[in-house]
Amino acid sequence: HGTMTINEAGHLEIGGVDTVDLAKKYDTPLFVYDTALIKERARAFKQAFEAEGVSYQVAYASKAFSCIAMYQLAASLDLSIDVVSGGELYTALKAGVEPGKIHFHGNNKSHGELEMAIKAGIGCIVADNFYELELLEELAANMEQTVSVLLRLTPGVEAHTHEFIATGQEDSKFGFDIASGQADKAAQIAERSKFIDLLGVHSHIGSQIFETEGFVLAIEKVFNQLQAWQEEFDFVPRVLNFGGGFGIRYVEGDKPLEPETYIREIVKETKKHADRLGLAIPEIWIEPGRSLVGDAATTLYTIGSTKDIPNVRRYLSVDGGMSDNLRPALYDAKYEGLLANRAHDKAEETFSVAGKCCESGDMLVWDMPLPEVQHGDVLAMFCTGAYGYSMANNYNRIPRPAVVFAEDGADQLVIQRESYEDLTKLDLAYQANVKETS
Ligand code: LLP
Repeated sequence: HGTMTINEAGHLEIGGVDTVDLAKKYDTPLFVYDTALIKERARAFKQAFEAEGVSYQVAYASKAFSCIAMYQLAASLDLSIDVVSGGELYTALKAGVEPGKIHFHGNNKSHGELEMAIKAGIGCIVADNFYELELLEELAANMEQTVSVLLRLTPGVEAHTHEFIATGQEDSKFGFDIASGQADKAAQIAERSKFIDLLGVHSHIGSQIFETEGFVLAIEKVFNQLQAWQEEFDFVPRVLNFGGGFGIRYVEGDKPLEPETYIREIVKETKKHADRLGLAIPEIWIEPGRSLVGDAATTLYTIGSTKDIPNVRRYLSVDGGMSDNLRPALYDAKYEGLLANRAHDKAEETFSVAGKCCESGDMLVWDMPLPEVQHGDVLAMFCTGAYGYSMANNYNRIPRPAVVFAEDGADQLVIQRESYEDLTKLDLAYQANVKETS
C-alpha cells in the first residue's frame, strides 16, 4: 500500500527509497514514514468535508506520533493539532504550529499546563471535569483572558473495531457523563462564567473503528443533550467535535471504511439533527490519529539470533521489540511484514518474531510467514506509524530508534537515534555522604 514497491534488487522500497540502504545508512531499528500516504489521507478527510459543503477542522491527534517534523508536516497540510499534555503542547509550539490551531485534551491537565495553554493563546481547551472548569475559571480570571472551551461529553457509546456498546451511562475516566446530569451541570457552569466561551461539545467513542453505527448513535445522544440546553438556556453550539477512531488495515481481515464514508455519515447525521432542532449546522471537527499515520510507517529491524524448538516453533529475534512497539504486548495487536532485503522470496516457513527485551511477553508477531531467514536479514514490519514511536520506552535501557521520512526518492532524518549518552543524561552520581553534604 502507499508508495511501497519492490525494486529490481528485490528490496522493499518506500517513497522511492531502498529500505536496505536506509537500514545501512541509519542502522536499525528504524521507523520509515511514507509521507505521501500521510498527505493523501489528510486530503481525503478534508475533501470529504468540502464535498459536503460544511465548515470543518481536521485535527491531527498527535498522541499517535509526535515530533517537531510531524507537527510541521501536519501544519503544512492545514491540519489543526490535538495535544494531550504539556509535552505535546510544548513540541507543537516549538515546531511553529499556530497556537490558534491547537486543541488541548486530557483528563488531568495541571494548573501549569493550563496556564501554558492560555498564555500561548491556543484555539480551544477540551474541558474534561469539574476540577478543570474551576482551574480554568481561576486562571482566566487572573490572566484576564477569555478561554474557548469544548465540553467533553461521554455519550454512553463505546466502539471498538466491529462492536459498539451503547450504555445508559459510561464508566470512563474521561468527560462529563450525559446520563447522570454531569454534562448539564458543566454546561451551566461554563455558561455562567465570564471567562469561559463555550464553543460546543466533544465526544470520542473509541479507536480502530470499522463501522459508522457508533458515530451515528453518539451524534444522536449529543444532540439530545444539546436540545435540553437549547430549551434551558438557548444554547447554540458553534462547534461539534466527534473525535477520532477511524480504523486502518493492520492485517488481512481488517476492513476499515474510506475516510469519506465516515465523514459523509457524520455530516449527514449532524445535518439531520441540527435541522430537527432548527439550528444552523455547527462547524464539525474530527481528530484522527491512527488513520493519518498508522499505516504510513514501517519498522525495519535486523534479524539476530534464531532458535528452533523441533516440532513446536521457530523463533527469530530482532534488535528491537516492546521498547519500540508496545502494542503486541499491551493489546495483543497483530502485524504483518516481510524480509526487506529479499522481498521476492517465497514465505515457506513460519517464524515467531521475538524482541530483545528481558521479558517473555516481548513477542512482536506469533507465527509470521517468512522465507528461511539468516542473521543480518532486514525484517520490515508494516503499519507501525501510530502509537509505535509515541509509546516507545527505555526498558532495559534500550535506546529509542531513529525515524526517517521518505518521499520522492529522498529520505530525511526527523528523529535521531537515542545514544547511550542520552540514556544517562538525566542521571546524577550516587553520593555516599549525602547526609553530611546536605
Ligand atoms: N481523540 C481523542 C479524544 C482520543 O482519546 C483519541 C485516542 C483520538 C482522538 C485518536 O484516536 P485514533 O484516531 O488514533 O484512533 N494506544 C492505543 C490507542 C489509544 C487511543 C487513545 N485515544 C493503541 O495503540 O491502539
